[in-house]
Amino acid sequence: MATEKQIRLDKFISEAAGLTRKDAKAVITKGRVSVGGEICKNSDRKVLVTEEICLDGVKLGAAEEFLYLMLHKPSGVVSATEDGRDRTVLDLVREREADETLSKEDLRYFVIGKRELFPVGRLDKDTEGLLLLTDDGELAHRLLSPKHHVDKVYAAKVSGTVPQDAAERFAEGIQVGKDYKALPAKLEVVSTDTQAECAEVKITLHEGKFHQVKRMCHEIGCEVTYLKRLSMGALVLDEALQPGEVRRLTEEEREQLCGEVKRQ
Ligand code: URA
Repeated sequence: MATEKQIRLDKFISEAAGLTRKDAKAVITKGRVSVGGEICKNSDRKVLVTEEICLDGVKLGAAEEFLYLMLHKPSGVVSATEDGRDRTVLDLVREREADETLSKEDLRYFVIGKRELFPVGRLDKDTEGLLLLTDDGELAHRLLSPKHHVDKVYAAKVSGTVPQDAAERFAEGIQVGKDYKALPAKLEVVSTDTQAECAEVKITLHEGKFHQVKRMCHEIGCEVTYLKRLSMGALVLDEALQPGEVRRLTEEEREQLCGEVKRQ
């Protein structure tokens, strides 16, 4: 967008937020757009792109190239963009964006519009917790690349007795079936219930293979009954987000995450 040119407000919103013109008009009419600090419901208004134009209080600029969302994935949805059978995390986020009963605070300021968002990595259908969604393919590639070894921390409930040497075995690298030897990982026992023969553990992995936590726990004689991802690199699940809720990453979170994989 040229900086001095005057353009219609709906055109600006459409380009800067990646919305269709129709959706841009709708957010303007709903009073979600301000120009220079004043709510403007007039789509025809001519604006300079150098003006302070905000959507849900967040300043829009031509520079907003990518969108980064933190989702507290609930159990029961699949980590995919499309699925013929199951509800996906993308369905969930789009439903949430379209939910007119939610306040701006609930939405925590995101607009997907025409963006092609996808989840960064996968959590199993029954796993909860932190899932990053973005349209920044390069960052996603780096975060998932084995070269970068981004730590993923999980909280798990397991049935069975955690063996005494479990932490050592995790630290050495567990052989997972005949398939592979896992990279050294960390296992901490948070609590045990000897009567019920179950425990709560915290596990840190530096890779992300299919069913990895479940399979590693199985190798030490335990079965995962509940699994939640708490963090991925510098990005920590916001405790204020309930399962199913989503928000944009803060600028600080985004910079930390991008910086982390760039540095390595
Ligand atoms: N490990 C698993 O077994 N499942 C997940 O969803 C994530 C890590």
